[in-house]
Amino acid sequence: MTACIVGWSHGKFGKLDGETSESLIVKAASDAIAHAGIEPKDIDVIYVGNMNGGFVRQEFHSSLALQAHPDLRFKPSTRVENACATGSAAIHMGLNTLAAGKARFVLVVGVEKMTELNSTQAGEVLIKASYVAEEATIEAGFAGIFGKITSAYFQRYGDKSDALAKIAVKAHRNGAKNPYAHFQKEFAYEFCRTPSDKNPFVAGPLKRTDCSPVTDGAAAVVLADVGTALGMKQAIAFRAAEHVNDFLPMSKRDIIKFEGPQLAWQRALKSARLDLLDLSFVESHDCFTSAELIEYEAMGLTAPGEGERAIHEGWVERDGKLPVNVSGGLKAKGHPVGATGVSMHVMSAMQLSGTAPEGLQLPKASVGGVFNMGGAAVANYVSILEPLR
Ligand code: COA
Repeated sequence: MTACIVGWSHGKFGKLDGETSESLIVKAASDAIAHAGIEPKDIDVIYVGNMNGGFVRQEFHSSLALQAHPDLRFKPSTRVENACATGSAAIHMGLNTLAAGKARFVLVVGVEKMTELNSTQAGEVLIKASYVAEEATIEAGFAGIFGKITSAYFQRYGDKSDALAKIAVKAHRNGAKNPYAHFQKEFAYEFCRTPSDKNPFVAGPLKRTDCSPVTDGAAAVVLADVGTALGMKQAIAFRAAEHVNDFLPMSKRDIIKFEGPQLAWQRALKSARLDLLDLSFVESHDCFTSAELIEYEAMGLTAPGEGERAIHEGWVERDGKLPVNVSGGLKAKGHPVGATGVSMHVMSAMQLSGTAPEGLQLPKASVGGVFNMGGAAVANYVSILEPLR
């Protein structure tokens, strides 16, 4: 255990007209520093997670964090990018900086302002996180990549549309309780299961309700070394933090195995000396419902091809043996790419400190897992978090 989250903030996710990536960064940074109970001058190093994809004209974001307070001027700040795992990548840079003894307090902000583009244009930006030489002609943006993965999964293991619809229903039921979520309403099973004008096919077997939305938002954390964290009013420790990258081309992998996520989970659980079911909850990267289904298998909850059992038998529901995406996940909370990994850590820190909003808080939350994924199982980050004391 080398570091802790000692302060955090989470803005409302959604279509945030009138906000810019700058305004989102400034608010998230200010709120996280205040929540940590420190002064801006105490921050030693800053990382800003933002996907380098051209959602907005302003691409150079690192110094925008300095605008949260004049005392942040001249602090070293760097933008970090690793596709949809950008937020966790920025957090890992913070952990490395602390481990190297280069800082006492690190501020990490994750941000994305996606809705200045329509869904088609956003898809054109997101597809750049595929292996462009072979995959960029797949239609429907990144949804097309997961449409292909889902079709391959159905071909090998049978049609799992029932399970995907149930995963969507669970996400929206949980998201309805999350005041930070993009969508705060429940969706009926029949609506999610049945293609319709309001729920058309987007790519392969994936319908609109199987996709995370195009969302704006920001979240931030303040990290500190354990010695420093012991004196702070709240401290959520990293019991493990693992990062595994796999080959980028899908043609070089058995894409429905999610071997990178599996290895990241195995390493994290081993390093934490825990079994999966020791965790009170998991926040997992459900960019598409089929991603969550395959992640059940990658984390070791079921055997390959049997992920549907986890949802059909209620294991991953709020009151199940391993609640997954109690926050509503990317599906309901939204997926502002650069912010997502930070958001997952903030949602987990809230649960573990007993400060999640009413209705969202789990009755028992002693240790939690986070899985954040960049690309199609390419950049894989697992964190295992628990209260320091
Ligand atoms: N889930 C459920 N409802 C959604 C939704 C989603 N993902 N996206 C949009 N909606 C709803 C909107 O709220 C709106 O509802 P309303 O008519 O009641 O106001 C309606 O659907 C139409 O919204 P619109 O934005 O026009 O939909 P769209 O068809 O242009 O976009 C997707 C829908 C799924 C194509 C788009 O959200 C998308 O591309 N998602 C994937 C993003 C992605 O690839 N992220 C990276 C993953 S790694």
